[in-house]
Amino acid sequence: MYLGFFRDHGHAVISGGSLIPENDPTVLFTTAGMHPLVPYLLGEAHPAGTRLCNVQKCIRTGDIEAVGDVSHLTFFEMLGNWSLGDYFKEEAIAWSYEFLTSKAYLGFDPNLLSVTVFEGIEGIPLDQASIDIWKKLGLPESRIHACPMVDNWWGPAGQTGPCGPDTEMFIDTRPGDGDADFHEDNTGRFFEIWNDVFMQYNKTAEGLYEPLQQANVDTGMGLERTVAMLQGKPSVFETELFSSLIEAIEDACSRRMSEDPDVTRAFRVVADHVRSAVFILGDDKAVVPSNLGQGYVLRRLIRRCVRFAKQLELPMGFSRSLAETVVDEYRHAYPELDRNRDRVLSELGREEEKFEKTLDRGLHELNKVVQKMQEHGQATLPGRVVFKLYDTYGFPMEFTEEICREQKMAIDREGYEKAFAKHRELSKQGAQKSFKGGLADHSDATTNLHTATHLLHKSLQMVLGDHVRQRGSNITPERLRFDFSHSQKMTDEEKQAVEVLVNQAIADDMPISMEVTSLEAAREAGAMALFDGKYAEQIKTYRIGEFSLEVCGGPHAEKTSVLGKFRIKKEEACSAGVRRIRAVLE
Ligand code: ALA
Repeated sequence: MYLGFFRDHGHAVISGGSLIPENDPTVLFTTAGMHPLVPYLLGEAHPAGTRLCNVQKCIRTGDIEAVGDVSHLTFFEMLGNWSLGDYFKEEAIAWSYEFLTSKAYLGFDPNLLSVTVFEGIEGIPLDQASIDIWKKLGLPESRIHACPMVDNWWGPAGQTGPCGPDTEMFIDTRPGDGDADFHEDNTGRFFEIWNDVFMQYNKTAEGLYEPLQQANVDTGMGLERTVAMLQGKPSVFETELFSSLIEAIEDACSRRMSEDPDVTRAFRVVADHVRSAVFILGDDKAVVPSNLGQGYVLRRLIRRCVRFAKQLELPMGFSRSLAETVVDEYRHAYPELDRNRDRVLSELGREEEKFEKTLDRGLHELNKVVQKMQEHGQATLPGRVVFKLYDTYGFPMEFTEEICREQKMAIDREGYEKAFAKHRELSKQGAQKSFKGGLADHSDATTNLHTATHLLHKSLQMVLGDHVRQRGSNITPERLRFDFSHSQKMTDEEKQAVEVLVNQAIADDMPISMEVTSLEAAREAGAMALFDGKYAEQIKTYRIGEFSLEVCGGPHAEKTSVLGKFRIKKEEACSAGVRRIRAVLE
């Protein structure tokens, strides 16, 4: 209905993007529909025109510990419509109002609607235009509230990029309770469902707000929240979007979600986190649990889910069957879940199993220490204990912190970081002793294949996408073997395209240069690397012309023309979400 409404108002329906942002280092996950559209909000022409709408899958884990209340979710679907320098406040607000209140669409009682607008800061005034538009539509002034920047300004927190004031729409969930002060209410009576952002500014690295060359509209309506309001449900978890999943949990543990507040919270956390994990694992970009970046967030979601599942006494292996339910429920709208079903189930099952083995022992140890600390009147858990829980039992730091908070204890984050760094130093020394450095064999044939590997890595990214990452490499004088993250079999055209790119790079006779820098500087220069902390502070990068830059121990050829002709001999599955290429230089 939403897409149809905006299509009728001249919007092109475009598809949503991946959960893993493309070329955007400012966020780990897509947190809103505007993320994939940033270049167009900044002025680049969008091929589908200046009016767009879609449904975007989103992950937000900033409020992960609030999950369990009536509205917070780490995964949700966002309905959005955009104007790229086309219409502005007048139309955006009028259409939001019509879609929300018209009997032909959602049909909310206009008397239940409250809105907020931006109150202004020095240099950017109160959003009087939005107030006037809402009034013209019939909203009384008593239900239009001016709020500060923390509430009514959209822009990825603290970061650069397009941003601006917004107007947010709330439904009164308890109109029978008489008048309430909107600003004072902390009972959740007013439930936000939609946000219209007026993106007129670009926040610069210096923290200034420069007017954009075009005034845009970026809106986002939370599907789960809106459905809860439409169906008159007290929480998003009672809507039909969650009913199969909640039923599956109830069946698996023979309890009811509504039993008592603790059980309700555990149900909600398990349901939310399983859904998020399925969508992350089911994304074509192939993120799997790890100790870094997106993989770490995923790991934290799964482990937190296992902890709450334990509270419900869900049987081992519960995550796979719940994941099946999620995939079946969503596969029509998100066919990638079906495509990647095997990876979703196996990675989730594996991570659950791994953590179940140590969860009890870790919790036992943590409780013992906490008790001892409390007996001695200490309120902070030492960093080395936090580190041990991480290192031995797989407790992410934030996880220990949350359990401690429930017991009114803090953790020593700084001490934890120090213990972590010390551990890394020690394991590095250990690794250096057993590590002969770079290639075992430094013959010309092997060295040339090593350089070809860098060309291959880059070419795969160019052809298949940025999700391609090195997962393993093995080189003999005869051939190279290269493992990389990618979930589908490569087509003949893709293989050919990769060969053409590599051979062109060879024909271009590019020079290869080595530089020693800090990991930080290499990262800033855009070098490809497995940033998992196994590198020394100073690292070597190899640059091949303008083509590729990688952190690497070497050695490499001096120029690409000596390599010969590159040919892929075989492309096959290696493990879940990982492909393997064998190639030669002829
Ligand atoms: N980008 C805006 C939001 O997510 C619409 O609230």
